[in-house]
Amino acid sequence: MFALKSGIVRRIYEAVKKRISTFLVGFVFALLCFVALNAAMVPVSKSEYCGSKCHEMNTAYLTWELSTHGTNIKGIRVECIDCHLPEKDKYFAHITAKAYEGAKDMYKHYFGDEYDGEKIRQKVFDRISNQRCLHCHDNLLVRPGSSAARIAHTAALSMPDAQENRCIQCHANVGHQRQNKLFSP
Ligand code: HEC
Ligand code: HEC
Ligand code: HEC
Repeated sequence: MFALKSGIVRRIYEAVKKRISTFLVGFVFALLCFVALNAAMVPVSKSEYCGSKCHEMNTAYLTWELSTHGTNIKGIRVECIDCHLPEKDKYFAHITAKAYEGAKDMYKHYFGDEYDGEKIRQKVFDRISNQRCLHCHDNLLVRPGSSAARIAHTAALSMPDAQENRCIQCHANVGHQRQNKLFSP
């Protein structure tokens, strides 16, 4: 019994020893890929990149810059990807969505029909979940605010699935300030 066991152990040991260099090379390669992927993501994750490379994004970019998330007195810029992609700490969901959305935008840019801003706006509007907003605004009931806000937010937090409790139902302009005087004729 002991001989059998040590035989197996020895065989495994031999196998590992023989392949240890292959294993190490593979491991280092995977690690380098991971570092390269993250480095490659940095420039294409910037709002300047997302917003200024294609004419389709012009309105979105300008209206974002005028919104409270693009410009506010705290000087914090909330980037496009903070609202439009799954949170960065859900790493795989984030990069998969990024790759998919990026590829789709690129395809539509070259081969798609004319960009229909209003149609896309409605689609995006229907999709952005409360979770995206709550990722940063997790202190809604703690902050001193108006009683209207308190009532609205208590409802939004207790029944998040109701259509009228969606954050952007009441805060439609937070990502893009579309009713700005700068856009008046
Ligand atoms: C605070 C969250 C938030 C941020 C930050 C944000 N968006 Fe949006 N975005 C929204 C919401 C909500 C909508 C749908 C409602 C609307 O557009 O009024 C939208 C709609 C859009 C649309 C579809 C309508 C259109 O204008 O063509 C595009 C494209 C878009 N965003 C791109 C961007 C880009 C590019 C950035 C960064 C420069 C950005 N967004 C930053 C929340 C955000
Ligand atoms: C990456 C973090 C982040 C995300 C995601 C985010 N916000 Fe914000 N939000 C901020 C910051 C920073 C400010 C500006 C400073 C402040 O007022 O606290 C702000 C300000 C606001 C304000 C106050 C505007 C004003 O005029 O005072 C509202 C309302 C708001 N956000 C709603 C939302 C909604 C709705 C979403 C989801 C579509 C969202 N936020 C997503 C960080 C975020
Ligand atoms: C039924 C409407 C309604 C819904 C749904 C709603 N809010 Fe509000 N929110 C308000 C009102 C009203 C205010 C107060 C506006 C003011 O005083 O100018 C407010 C204010 C805010 C502010 C500014 C700071 C504060 O606390 O007063 C933030 C941030 C905010 N809401 C985030 C959110 C987020 C995130 C969600 C989704 C979980 C959400 N809201 C859902 C109505 C709503």
